[in-house]
Amino acid sequence: MLTSGGDCQALNAAMRGVVKGLSFNLPEDQLEVYGFSNGYKGLIYGDYRMLTAKDFSGILTKGGTILGSSRQPFKLMRVPDENGLDKVEAMKQNYYKLRLDCLVILGGNGTQKTANLLREEGLNIIHLPKTIDNDIWGTDMTFGFESAVNIATDAIDCIHTTASSHNRVFIVEVMGHKVGWLTLHAGIAGGADIILIPEIPYDINKVIEAINRRTKAGKGFTILAVAEGAISKENAKLSKKELKEKLKKNPHPAVSYEIAAAIQEKTGIEVRVTVPGHTQRGGSPCPYDRVLTTRLGAAAAKLILNNEYGYMVGIINGKTKKIPLGEVAGKLKMVSPDEQIVKEAKMIGISFGD
Ligand code: F6P
Repeated sequence: MLTSGGDCQALNAAMRGVVKGLSFNLPEDQLEVYGFSNGYKGLIYGDYRMLTAKDFSGILTKGGTILGSSRQPFKLMRVPDENGLDKVEAMKQNYYKLRLDCLVILGGNGTQKTANLLREEGLNIIHLPKTIDNDIWGTDMTFGFESAVNIATDAIDCIHTTASSHNRVFIVEVMGHKVGWLTLHAGIAGGADIILIPEIPYDINKVIEAINRRTKAGKGFTILAVAEGAISKENAKLSKKELKEKLKKNPHPAVSYEIAAAIQEKTGIEVRVTVPGHTQRGGSPCPYDRVLTTRLGAAAAKLILNNEYGYMVGIINGKTKKIPLGEVAGKLKMVSPDEQIVKEAKMIGISFGD
């Protein structure tokens, strides 16, 4: 078992689900669990420890991961390390040396691509979809997402009171990498007036129009939920290379500060930026994520007991489902501008700056 990539809430709860599902259904002497430390690093360099069912007891509510995690970019997996070690071969060797029946891999998109590569190399793989970004194709929900929505929503809730006392514009910058799910959900839940997400490039003049509309209507403050990956219409037209060059010259550390400066300059209203950052990945998993991971873990255990491998275990329309890894690896689940939830948000007057 290993946890790879950025951590999130409910990683431990998911591992607990898998191990409980196996230990309840197997004689004690037929279950051996090896935990690899710090993601694929542990599998590459043979850093592991043998665990028992007891190690997975009492961790349902514990944030982080008892195995540790690290980012091992997929694009570097085929590149030898600084000592010339072939990482893929090293992972395979450790797998065979330990005579593993399967590898249970918990992680996001990058992790999933490597999991699929190992599957193509002949290893037995089960993948569980973890990420606060909810951007994994083939599952309605990833674990960590709802817990992060709760934290980002709390941040917006707290900003509400101070924003109203000072008649200011506040920007809360929400994580989510290249997708807007987290910002969209936290923005709606927190009652944000403007929501900016990567999938709907914004026009700063439309953002300002929305603020002015509120000011005219006698509202003293405006709250923006801005995704860390939000992008202006102008920048969205640039190639990757051109954008990189442009951003090099940008004096602002993040998109929220750039938007704040433009609003302040064009409206004269004071603007403040709040970045909850990694707090969004911290703390205990929310009840939804505890239930989700217990179900995904149990479904993964069932696959393992049936010797069925090469799947991600996801949830679709409320039912756990095995989805062939080869069908989903490398695909990103993004917010569509035509999504019902976006239309409903617009219906109640939330601006997306488009
Ligand atoms: O993928 C999860 C995530 O928290 C993203 O929302 C964010 O862009 C990224 O990880 C931050 O990564 P790191 O922890 O490496 O700074």
